[in-house]
Amino acid sequence: MPGRYTPDMTSEKKPCLQGVGLTKVFGLGRNKTVAVDNVDFTFHEGEVVSIVGESGSGKTTLAKMLLGLINQTSGDIYFQGEQRDLSSHRKKKEYWRNIQAIFQDPFSSYNIFNKIDTVLLDCIRMRGNGHLPQEQKREMMIEACRFVNLRFEELTNKYPFELSGGQQQRLMIARIFLLKPKILLADEPTSMVDACSRSTILDSLLDLRNEIGMTPIFITHDIGLAFYVSDSVYIMEHGRFVESGTADDVILDPQEPYTKRLISDVPKIREEWDLSTV
Ligand SMILES: Nc1ncnc2c1ncn2[C@@H]1O[C@H](COP(=O)(O)OP(=O)(O)O)[C@@H](O)[C@H]1O
Ligand SMILES: [Mg+2]
Repeated sequence: MPGRYTPDMTSEKKPCLQGVGLTKVFGLGRNKTVAVDNVDFTFHEGEVVSIVGESGSGKTTLAKMLLGLINQTSGDIYFQGEQRDLSSHRKKKEYWRNIQAIFQDPFSSYNIFNKIDTVLLDCIRMRGNGHLPQEQKREMMIEACRFVNLRFEELTNKYPFELSGGQQQRLMIARIFLLKPKILLADEPTSMVDACSRSTILDSLLDLRNEIGMTPIFITHDIGLAFYVSDSVYIMEHGRFVESGTADDVILDPQEPYTKRLISDVPKIREEWDLSTV
């Protein structure tokens, strides 16, 4: 199928991120919301995963637990086969080197008072390369910008808000290129952009998967997007995974009424994501 991503099946699958009985409850008594309800999953290295569900199904709450921004109410998270440990500042820093997130609004990734040079240099520093000679760091920034079709010379000394929306999105991907996380959580990364920038963003994120061996996790309400990018799809309803499997199994042969309904909202799922029509 044109444009559809072909997973690399040659390498052996290693677990990258696992959840066992993962649960998040907000509030107490009558105000209690079970946002994530006892989910189990194993995401493998290099596997492209999508978590799909309607608004309010618990996707962002799950993402925040995976990022270590909020604590789970119960259940366990394993990173690279070992129980995740965020008990000290040092361990948190180490974990956050491995997992990064991009959100819907590219602005939320930046401190708006920092120039673009600082934004990119911070990424190099976070990778532990702050001590490298200035010239080498500059080369790294030029390379990252080139990867997303930006020219570093045109960005230097500017602020992120001086860029167009599309350029901001690309700068966000350049940051990921420099940070080289093992896992990238992308929460509705393309919902604010037009169809053309959307496919560019998705394709550069998938290129990054090959370039730096990253595991991208897409969080979306858009099952068409999930079909286009994913090896594995998890369908989320009311905090639970109601159906999961390969993108082809889940989307071309759905078993659950909820999945069927999500798909019926996108009547021409194959044609929609044929990039030759974009
Ligand atoms: N901080 C919070 N306090 C109380 N309830 C919350 C909080 N965050 C999310 N929720 C609730 O948890 C449920 C799942 O929300 P969320 O994870 O944002 O879903 P999604 O990202 O799929 O739209 C919703 O009912 C939401 O109102
Ligand atoms: Mg959300």
